[in-house]
Amino acid sequence: MQGVTVVDHPLVQHKLTLMRDKTTSTAGFRTLLREIATLLCYEVTRDIELETIDIETPMGPMTAPIIKGKKLVFASILRAGNGLLDGMLDLVPAARVAHIGLYRDHETLEPVEYYFKAPADLENRLVIVVDPMLATGNSAIAAVERLKERGANKVRFLCLLSAPEGLRKFTAAHPDVPIFTAAIDSHLNDIGYIVPGLGDAGDRMFGTK
Ligand code: URA
Repeated sequence: MQGVTVVDHPLVQHKLTLMRDKTTSTAGFRTLLREIATLLCYEVTRDIELETIDIETPMGPMTAPIIKGKKLVFASILRAGNGLLDGMLDLVPAARVAHIGLYRDHETLEPVEYYFKAPADLENRLVIVVDPMLATGNSAIAAVERLKERGANKVRFLCLLSAPEGLRKFTAAHPDVPIFTAAIDSHLNDIGYIVPGLGDAGDRMFGTK
C-alpha cells in the first residue's frame, strides 16, 4: 500500500508474536513494547536529514554527520501511545514529547479530544505520531488534524499493528503522512478491534483488565 512501510525485521516480528500471545504477562508485554518501540523508531528515522559539523577526534580534525534541524517531536495518542515513548526516547533522548488525549466513543467509535499539549513551534520539526493500534483510523486522523492545525507540516505515523480499513481511511485523509507499522492484520471486528490483533493495547500494557 502506497505510503505504508511494514517493518519486517525478524526481531520486530518475533517480539510482536510474543506480544500477541494472550499468555504474555503485563510486565512481559511492557518490556517487549519498549524494545519493539526502539526498533520501530530506528526504522521511522532511517532517512532523516543529516548535516555535517567540524569536530576534533583524539586523532585529529574531521567533518562528521549529525541530525539536521530542530529536535524531533514524538506525539503520543493517550493512553496507549505512551507505551511506545520510553523505547523511542531511549534512542532519541532529546526528542520533545506531545500528548494528545483522544478516547473512542464506544457507540460511534469516533474520537473525542480531552487533552492537547505540544511544543509551540511544530512547523520546524519532524513530528512522529505514535499509537500502538491503527484500527478504525479515526483517532489517528483526528490527532494528525490537530497537529497540522497547530503548524505541523512534516508528520509520520508509527504503530505496532494496523487494520486494512484504518490504513485506507488514514491514507485517504492524510496522504502526505507516511505510516510505519510492524504488521497489517486481517480486519476489524464489529466493535472496532483488530483481528487477530493483540487485544486492547492499553489494558495489556497497564494491566487494567
Ligand atoms: N485499540 C486496541 O487497543 N486494540 C484494538 O484491537 C483496536 C484498538
